[in-house]
Amino acid sequence: MIVLGLSGALKHDPSAALLVDGETVAAAEEERFIRDKHAKNKLPLHSARFCLEYAGVDPADVDYVAFPYAPINLRGPARWHYAKRYWYAPDRSLDALFNGNRRFRAHRRSIIGLGKELGINWSRTQFVPVEHHLSHASSAYHLSGFTQKCAILGVDGKGEYATTFLGYGEGGRIHKIKEFYDPDSLGGVYGAVTEYLGFEMLDGEYKVMGMAPYGDASKYDLSPLIAAKGDGFKVNTALVNAVGLRRYKDAGQKFFFTPKLVDWLGPRRLDDAADDPYIHYAASMQALFEKWVMTLIDHYLADILAETGKLAFAGGGALNVKLNQRLLARPDVDELFVQPASGDSGTALGAATQVAMSHGDRVSPMRHVYLGPSYTNEQCLTALQAHTGECQWQKMTDPAGQTADLLAAGHPVAWFQGRMEFGPRALGGRSILGCPNAPGIADRINEQIKFRERWRPFCLSILDQVAAEILQSEHPAPYMTITFNVAESWRSRIPEVVHVDGTVRAQVVERDTNPRYYALLEAMQVRTGNGVVLNTSLNRRGEAMVCSPQDALNMFFGSDLQYLVLEDWLVTKC
Ligand SMILES: [Fe+2]
Repeated sequence: MIVLGLSGALKHDPSAALLVDGETVAAAEEERFIRDKHAKNKLPLHSARFCLEYAGVDPADVDYVAFPYAPINLRGPARWHYAKRYWYAPDRSLDALFNGNRRFRAHRRSIIGLGKELGINWSRTQFVPVEHHLSHASSAYHLSGFTQKCAILGVDGKGEYATTFLGYGEGGRIHKIKEFYDPDSLGGVYGAVTEYLGFEMLDGEYKVMGMAPYGDASKYDLSPLIAAKGDGFKVNTALVNAVGLRRYKDAGQKFFFTPKLVDWLGPRRLDDAADDPYIHYAASMQALFEKWVMTLIDHYLADILAETGKLAFAGGGALNVKLNQRLLARPDVDELFVQPASGDSGTALGAATQVAMSHGDRVSPMRHVYLGPSYTNEQCLTALQAHTGECQWQKMTDPAGQTADLLAAGHPVAWFQGRMEFGPRALGGRSILGCPNAPGIADRINEQIKFRERWRPFCLSILDQVAAEILQSEHPAPYMTITFNVAESWRSRIPEVVHVDGTVRAQVVERDTNPRYYALLEAMQVRTGNGVVLNTSLNRRGEAMVCSPQDALNMFFGSDLQYLVLEDWLVTKC
């Protein structure tokens, strides 16, 4: 069975994923191909084309197109809840009741049109809508590898109407226990505060999370943003998650917080600094978010966790690695699987896996995220030849050893190897690497290469043999989705990646999933005594991660990087 998942209904992060007989053969975000971060208001044309071509699948042979956005029945609670809570914006309220699937119909038309452009034969191929949160849940549960019953959690801004999903998976089926609906959205509140703190919603949430450890959550109490209601919560839309006339406006821009929030907390943060009181607001927001997720789990999932100890998590909220550390620290959680593409790009994979499972395929667990395009040495050489005179290149006989020599000497190195990662994290396919004990390397990468905020932490890739010693945990961590407390004895050995709160966001690398990256870590172990590298994504601030050799070279020449390892080629600037 061939299932093509296509995401992008929420006007950001379109992507495609292809399943053949339950195996995830290819998946990629559209932003990488069109070089436009989050690819807002675009359809997943290039990514879908890539998936089909990579798999050698004739578009006419696709059995199902799975779409992670579905019509919502008026008989259920979602549209009524939305209409009631948005009483102050009657146009929206009435629209939800009388024309509540308008967006779905428009998306369906777009996807049918896109399919025709791709060569899908709609008289044979079936279009299958899957609810947005069911798609997130599927991307976590069906790919987790959990064979026993497990709890499932989904947290994001919103899908059609749902914002939060609590349920369980058993025997290959997903069961919904409880959903919350817009505007009662924990992800939405985090997003609105992200905007207030001067970042872009859907992009800057992880910056707020990075800023939080610099602040003191007890200094300002943000709990008036979310009130307890029955067995759940109610967002205070007088302050956040507001629409229409309630929204704060500045310089022609509209935000999801209100003028009342500004009256309460002071002016919106406008510069790049991490300072008072905004660091404390970030800390309070993070604490509030964690508190509410824990409260919901206690209420709706604790009995399942007590039974199984397993939790699968997806949705934009699952990108919050600090929350994930708290989840893993729960005494009732033994195993936590966080879908690495837990933002909306992952819903293409989630919808596809849900459709495959419900039509009789067995979906294989996720083994890695290297699901994008790869390029040969010859293709890299062609790209290099376009830059003759600007750089020199030589074929390496020992790429791991030669790269480790450069890193150990204190140089940052751009590392382009194999298939591109699916999901927002660079995991050794399209990375900028550094030696985590080279003094000042983090500042150098921030200021000269990435051009990003100096206070944001970097991640660490670790050889599997030393991971437990550094992270003080045996729990799997292949995707940089969880932070860990760094062992005291290691903090001085890797100072450039330890965050101000003593944690690190980690990727434990195994030989099977990325042999070349593993060889590099082994070579670092030999040279420095530490089998680790600092790892950040191969892109500059505001740009999508690099996809092709041409993208890598454009990024290389637009930064102060001196070294680029492009498959077997070592490229140095003239
Ligand atoms: Fe989502």
